Amino acid sequence: MLLVSGLTKRHPNALRPIFRDLNFSVLAGQIVALVGESGVGKSTLLNCIAGLETAEAGSVQIDSQNMMSLAEAERARLRAASVGFVFQAFHVLPTLTVAQNIAVPLLLTRVPVAEHAGRIGTLLDRVGLADFGARWPASLSGGELQRVAIARALVHRPQLILADEPTGNLDPRTANEVLSLLLERCREQNTAALIVTHSAQVAARCDHTLTLTPDGLAA
Ligand SMILES: Nc1ncnc2c1ncn2[C@@H]1O[C@H](COP(=O)(O)OP(=O)(O)OP(=O)(O)O)[C@@H](O)[C@H]1O
Ligand SMILES: [Mg+2]
Repeated sequence: MLLVSGLTKRHPNALRPIFRDLNFSVLAGQIVALVGESGVGKSTLLNCIAGLETAEAGSVQIDSQNMMSLAEAERARLRAASVGFVFQAFHVLPTLTVAQNIAVPLLLTRVPVAEHAGRIGTLLDRVGLADFGARWPASLSGGELQRVAIARALVHRPQLILADEPTGNLDPRTANEVLSLLLERCREQNTAALIVTHSAQVAARCDHTLTLTPDGLAA
């Protein structure tokens, strides 16, 4: 599902690359934890995979397509269709209702409008927010917002979820609940996931753990 080969990232003016020659893969339906010390480059790696930052060398293949050889428009289309994102800071849009937020990936992937309400309703139910569709994000707790973000990441049924500390802003109990939801929904939809986490508990619940160190990846 995801194949990363020889990926190297160096910021301009930086003395040494953040990472060099990273190689790993995530199989269809596989859930992989990405751990490592703060500042080692986990978010940078996720952003490079997502195409939000450019890497200096190497390739990222998503669903057998080389992201870096595609034109920007084509890359954006593939990303919209195949990838779902969950960020630490939720990134829920404040001027849209909960249901409208979840609908955003459907608009980007041209899922027929007739299907939107059904899909959104089902996912709201699955993340425990059945009556929240018409609410405004400002009225939700952090744990509820992160569940909205999870529903939004899954609504277009992507084959790959990229999650950067999806439970980092939540108390341990809520974090555990939200993570369970994310893992259950991924397993239900056979969605592969790469989840950045500082939690050993979270990593233990994934199929595999990759550790990013200043010297590279350790499995
Ligand atoms: N534009 C930039 N120019 C130079 N260095 C940068 C730039 N952006 C990020 N960095 C550096 O890249 C390194 C990796 O940052 P990154 O955010 O990927 O770490 P992380 O592993 O996600 O850390 P955390 O666990 O704290 O989120 C850091 O040392 C950071 O200061
Ligand atoms: Mg980070």
